Amino acid sequence: MALAPMAVTPERQRAGIGSALVRAGLEECQRLGIDAVFVVGHPTYYPRFGFRSASSVGFVCEFEVPDEAFMVAELVAGVLDGKTATVHFHPAFKEG
Ligand SMILES: CC(C)(COP(=O)(O)OP(=O)(O)OC[C@H]1O[C@@H](n2cnc3c(N)ncnc32)[C@H](O)[C@@H]1OP(=O)(O)O)[C@@H](O)C(=O)NCCC(=O)NCCS
Repeated sequence: MALAPMAVTPERQRAGIGSALVRAGLEECQRLGIDAVFVVGHPTYYPRFGFRSASSVGFVCEFEVPDEAFMVAELVAGVLDGKTATVHFHPAFKEG
């Protein structure tokens, strides 16, 4: 699964809304039985939710993005062990 896009209107930022959205999304993915969630985003924001560098565990992004901005959260411990791949996003991510 891929997490995006995410935005909180500027006057409502830093009130916990973004964190609540990420946590709710991850919980829903867990409920659906998703193994892992990828995100292209701020490398200083997403680690607090369990995301870490995707390249460090063998995954590269189909888009040219800074290495540290491409992250993954394992929802099932060890599910990515020994796997490598290029991650392709849903066509909706390429529109607009
Ligand atoms: C990133 C974003 C969704 C966070 O939403 P939010 O509701 O403000 O987030 P929260 O209130 O849950 O969390 C605030 C925390 O995130 C941190 N944070 C916010 N934006 C950040 C960023 N770009 N990089 C790193 N940390 C960030 C804040 O410093 C704050 O940290 P603290 O809890 O240690 O004080 C919001 O800032 C936003 O919409 N930004 C513009 C769009 C964007 O960049 N979207 C993300 C694309 S990956």
